[in-house]
Amino acid sequence: MKLAKKVAVVTGAARGIGRATVERLLAEGARVVVSDIDADRLANTVLELDAGETVHAVVADVAKKSDVDRLVAAAVSHFGTIDIMVNNAGIAPVVDFLDVTEELLGRVLDINLKGAFYGAQAAGRQMIAQGKPGVIINMSSINSGLANPNVAPYAISKGGMNQVTSTAAVAFAPHNIRVVGVGPGTIMTEMVAGAFVNSAGNNAILSRTPLGRYGEASEIAAVVAFLASDDASYMTGETVYVDGGRRVLNYVVPVRS
Ligand SMILES: NC(=O)c1ccc[n+]([C@@H]2O[C@H](COP(=O)([O-])OP(=O)(O)OC[C@H]3O[C@@H](n4cnc5c(N)ncnc54)[C@H](O)[C@@H]3O)[C@@H](O)[C@H]2O)c1
Repeated sequence: MKLAKKVAVVTGAARGIGRATVERLLAEGARVVVSDIDADRLANTVLELDAGETVHAVVADVAKKSDVDRLVAAAVSHFGTIDIMVNNAGIAPVVDFLDVTEELLGRVLDINLKGAFYGAQAAGRQMIAQGKPGVIINMSSINSGLANPNVAPYAISKGGMNQVTSTAAVAFAPHNIRVVGVGPGTIMTEMVAGAFVNSAGNNAILSRTPLGRYGEASEIAAVVAFLASDDASYMTGETVYVDGGRRVLNYVVPVRS
């Protein structure tokens, strides 16, 4: 039990990677505040988790700073402290570069980028006030550094998120608060099972994945648990890629005649 007595907050926890992360943090002994914008799905997830008093649910929209501040405050009032903040909530609309509207760009940046910033700020402020170590984990993506023109707002938001990670890491290091990122490859969640895979094509993704398969949400959750634990006590500022080898692949392409 790597995380006994720790209190964690996970956003976007109603399904997918967020939910798998909650399950893993609970298994490691943490108490978890589960949060999502989808109240019905969140309530259902809490029922299915069947984790009694070790779970507390808070509906919040990470695009709103006031909601994120309220979420961190709720964790403290319910469990007395916050040790781990996982900024996981995100959206990934698939739209051609030239078709991205002002509204869509704003929404993606509000949730994925500003949401992570608000989460880091609220959790960091509280952790500093508590005067004990803490860990903030941002759910990035391989798209933070790869160029897929069908998900430009998403890629831009995750690139910016990596800088939330590195700047917050330096800001909070004097307080022994670590800030790290996790960059999944393609994980078969509802986000990916829909438009994402269809637009990219199964083969387009798998032919770029040396391990030859999609990842499981539990394989991301395992890395989150490691990063949240003292096993990662000297890691801060970095984003760790968990992608079946996709990001480092540098292989041949057909030569144009
Ligand atoms: N699945 C992948 O292949 C993959 C790859 C790289 C990164 N990621 C990242 O992992 C995270 C989780 O992805 P997933 O695949 O589990 O997605 P998902 O769509 O299955 O789950 C995302 C959750 O976030 C919630 N959410 C959306 N907007 C929100 C908001 N404004 N406030 C609070 N909650 C909100 C949704 O209701 C949902 O429960 C995202 O940040 C995503 O970008 C996923």
